[in-house]
Amino acid sequence: MDGVKINLKVNGQDISREVDSRLLLSDFIRESLYLTGTHIGCEHGVCGACTIHVNGDPVRSCLMLAVQADGCEVKTVESLIQENGKLNYLQQAFSDNHALQCGFCTPGFLMTVSGFLEENSKPSEDEIKKCISGNLCRCTGYSNIIKAVKQAAQTVSN
Ligand code: FES
Ligand code: FES
Repeated sequence: MDGVKINLKVNGQDISREVDSRLLLSDFIRESLYLTGTHIGCEHGVCGACTIHVNGDPVRSCLMLAVQADGCEVKTVESLIQENGKLNYLQQAFSDNHALQCGFCTPGFLMTVSGFLEENSKPSEDEIKKCISGNLCRCTGYSNIIKAVKQAAQTVSN
């Protein structure tokens, strides 16, 4: 393989790998790092299932090449779990409000919303709807996801 060396931090851990220059960041995360919480749906930037954070911003990892993450700080859904192994406030809110059914879309929602709540801990319902408007869910009908985000926002702002 004609590899390119990349160095990045993923979930707080320094990673150094040689990758194909055309490898998608989403595939790198799943297939090289075995962080399979990042899901791949459309692979065209439409569904939001592959959302991660790059340097603190939510990013669709299917729209980025692994080589573009060189020198970046990446966080995946696996970073949300607390050190004691318990769900964090946002994951717990999704669980409490039955905001998932098959769960395929959930990692993307969690990563989209976690970045959003850091910026805006008291969002209106319209702001929540706008925040999740780029994430598709084929199961829940979105109402319970909105309820979960409201509960999580309340936890953050208390
Ligand atoms: S898999 Fe990346 S947006 Fe759908
Ligand atoms: S819970 Fe099934 S796609 Fe969202």
